[in-house]
Amino acid sequence: MAAKEDIYSKIIPRRLRPNRQNAVKHGSHLDVLLLMGFPHNRALKALVSTGGRNVQLACDWLFSHVDDPFLDDPLPREYVLYLRPSGPLQNQLSHFWQQSRLTCGKNKAHNIFPHITLCQFFMCADSKVEALCGALQSTVNQWRGRFPSPLPLELYTSSNFIGLFVEEQIAETLKKFAFDFAAEAATKADVQVEPHKKQLHVTLAYNFPSSHLASLEKLARGIEVKLSCDWLAVLFSRDVRFANHETLKVMYPYIPQNEDELELVPGDFIFTSPVEHMSTSEGWVYGTSLSTGLSGLLPENYVSRADECDTWVFHGSHSFFSALPSEKSNKESRTLDGLLSIQCLDNSKAGDSSIMNVVCQPMQVLRVNSHSQSPKRTLFVCRHGERMDVVFGKHWLSQCSDAKGRYVRSNLNMPPSLPAWGGNRDYDMDAPITVFGAIQARTVGEALLENNTTIDFVYCSPSLRCVQTAHEILKGMKREGKLRIRVEPGLFEWTKWVSGNSLPAWISPIGLAAANLSVDTTYKPHISITKLNVSESYDTYMSRSYRVTKDILADCKNKGNNILIVAHASSLEACTRQLQGLTPHNAKEFVQVVRKIPYLGLCACEEQDTGAWQLVDPPILPLTHGPNHSFSWRETLQQE
Ligand SMILES: *[C@@H]1O[C@H](CO)[C@@H](O)[C@H](O)[C@H]1NC(C)=O
Ligand SMILES: *[C@@H]1O[C@H](CO)[C@@H](O)[C@H](O)[C@H]1NC(C)=O
Ligand SMILES: *[C@@H]1O[C@H](CO)[C@@H](O)[C@H](O)[C@H]1NC(C)=O
Repeated sequence: MAAKEDIYSKIIPRRLRPNRQNAVKHGSHLDVLLLMGFPHNRALKALVSTGGRNVQLACDWLFSHVDDPFLDDPLPREYVLYLRPSGPLQNQLSHFWQQSRLTCGKNKAHNIFPHITLCQFFMCADSKVEALCGALQSTVNQWRGRFPSPLPLELYTSSNFIGLFVEEQIAETLKKFAFDFAAEAATKADVQVEPHKKQLHVTLAYNFPSSHLASLEKLARGIEVKLSCDWLAVLFSRDVRFANHETLKVMYPYIPQNEDELELVPGDFIFTSPVEHMSTSEGWVYGTSLSTGLSGLLPENYVSRADECDTWVFHGSHSFFSALPSEKSNKESRTLDGLLSIQCLDNSKAGDSSIMNVVCQPMQVLRVNSHSQSPKRTLFVCRHGERMDVVFGKHWLSQCSDAKGRYVRSNLNMPPSLPAWGGNRDYDMDAPITVFGAIQARTVGEALLENNTTIDFVYCSPSLRCVQTAHEILKGMKREGKLRIRVEPGLFEWTKWVSGNSLPAWISPIGLAAANLSVDTTYKPHISITKLNVSESYDTYMSRSYRVTKDILADCKNKGNNILIVAHASSLEACTRQLQGLTPHNAKEFVQVVRKIPYLGLCACEEQDTGAWQLVDPPILPLTHGPNHSFSWRETLQQE
């Protein structure tokens, strides 16, 4: 706790930047972080570690890294400049990436997306990264219109390498560009960039068993190398400490049982080194979390292998061909930033354009047709509000029960009372919402009321936090007690995410109603609690969610236009994806999408005249707010 307080309590006086005209995006983000009281080195580290996108991401990074033992380590990140294809050739390369993985399994080329390496990895101090990005921008500007196009590529094969080589004379021109960038970077950012001296190429496969050579070569011959391609100059960085580590992705949550264990949160990445592997006991590995910087032991079967570039940070992408494509690519990357975590630039299976299709489409927002005649049916899906165990930690219960086991709040954000306290309520597995969680929900309800959006039916996951959220939304809409919540176990989240070997013992609808929550005690669920299985597969979860959503829509057909589902972050995707006629993402992509959904995240899916459902703009604004950390005047102000 002491370390946590530290980061917030040090107020660094704001330093005015000496050179105002240089104070572009990065700089102003830094100013905001300094004003918020973050120390200069940490603020910079947070900005470069998140690609300098915005203050929110940098703040999130700082909050999740409060206990990172390397937070104040001055070691800079490592950067690399690539040419990255986009357009028709990129589609062919993505296809090759996908097919080669499917037919022959992963080889080393799959660790990184298709690219041409222009320089060796180089270090750049955090304070110079903004200038480095500027150096790339201005070099590309000088080369715009002069860059060779198309790049003549030739297939080359050896016993354990397949690649496309750039024709030599053209390669010399590319090297000249890399050299110009190195010179510009040396002047502007004071870094040593070493342009790639060897033959320039796109690696297609390497380090594969020789038995796979024939099939890989056949696939490679299928690539139409003459297809048009806009080569983009892209800058990426990685954490140099983990350059030779293996990158793993967390699949399932794990709560540490011992001091030396690492907490696992699905979607996070873990770095492990082969050396550290050796010294641990069977089934356990030692690793460091990307999202917290903490290290510890973790169960091997909770993680799966990821690609190295999954954890890389993207610092900019520039097109050579005209200002227009460049603007487009900037816009694209901005859209990407908005929708994907920076760790999500997963090109092992998909290229740029397919990321947009595969990952971003479900969150894509389409305009409401303002000329629609009859009101259309709309399904709203909403995540629950802030939960007690997330704010006060997994031992929150011990902070709010007295010696006699009675509930006593020890913080203003704990509700004055909990529904159905006493008895054997399973609060450990079924946490309630905080006071702020209730405010979040009421705010959304009030916004819906203000927009004159009526809700005709409310369906809800059996989790207490969801029922409470639904109740507070109804309160905000002044409909509590008038509209009854239908508690539907089929809306519970992916049971694989439940820790332990059994599902929570949810409070029954009768118990919820007894606690004055606006619950319909006569509702007959489509999927009863007994039909839910612990540790269900991803496919089972997705089809269960789709089925129950369709059943709900059928229930309400011709009885009302607007249906609200209050459930989990995963429900926004699980209840709308197949409804729109789209195929579900794979589990990995799904986790990436779910991570982006905040408390009270809301989406709206509208039935079209054709009977198809489509995501549209919700009628209310999104809800964003800052975190507020714990504070003890005694520890902070009364220091010896
Ligand atoms: C409700 O929201 C929609 C979409 O933002 C807007 O077009 C409409 O005018 C709003 N209605 C009211 C009554 O505010
Ligand atoms: C919203 O509903 C109220 C009450 O039904 C009505 O008086 C008001 O005109 C509506 N506002 C809009 C903008 O439709
Ligand atoms: C529920 O509401 C009734 C009537 O307002 C009240 O008497 C009762 O104490 C409430 N029960 C709980 C558990 O809050």
